[in-house]
Amino acid sequence: MKLRRRAALLAACALWAAAGAGLAASADALRGEQLYGRCLACHALATDRVGPRHCGLLGRRAGSVAGFDYSAAMKKSGLVWDEKTLDRFLRKPLDLVPGSSMTYDGVPLASERRDLIAYLKAVANTAACRAGR
Ligand code: HEC
Repeated sequence: MKLRRRAALLAACALWAAAGAGLAASADALRGEQLYGRCLACHALATDRVGPRHCGLLGRRAGSVAGFDYSAAMKKSGLVWDEKTLDRFLRKPLDLVPGSSMTYDGVPLASERRDLIAYLKAVANTAACRAGR
């Protein structure tokens, strides 16, 4: 009995340590990191690709990464990226920014959008993003 409880505790510790090693963040952000695989076709955290870099996204004006070739629609959108605007954009990008060049259908599940946004928030404090700033 005693032994078994100790094993359970050890297993819990191992899980906790594994989670902490990737990102010092919540389960949401960890799930978001996996979902971010869908974005990697076009985006990277610290470099511009088909889409602009995502480091520093939260709090940034839409269409404002210097040197990235945004659509006119994105530049004129007047949006600032926060949890609310990102949630609306990611649900259906072209609904919020008609004419955007982000030809991606969106993330229909609210829980997945929440996890993705938690991840995008959490990565701002990782080495990958700090180095790119
Ligand atoms: C098919 C390629 C593609 C995919 C996949 C894609 N994006 Fe984009 N994304 C773009 C392009 C291109 C832009 C620039 C849009 C514009 O200028 O209208 C963009 C812009 C953005 C912006 C605005 C950034 C800024 O600096 O204003 C955000 C936020 C964003 N994408 C998030 C995501 C997330 C999160 C995912 C994954 C769920 C994703 N994108 C998947 C191509 C893509």
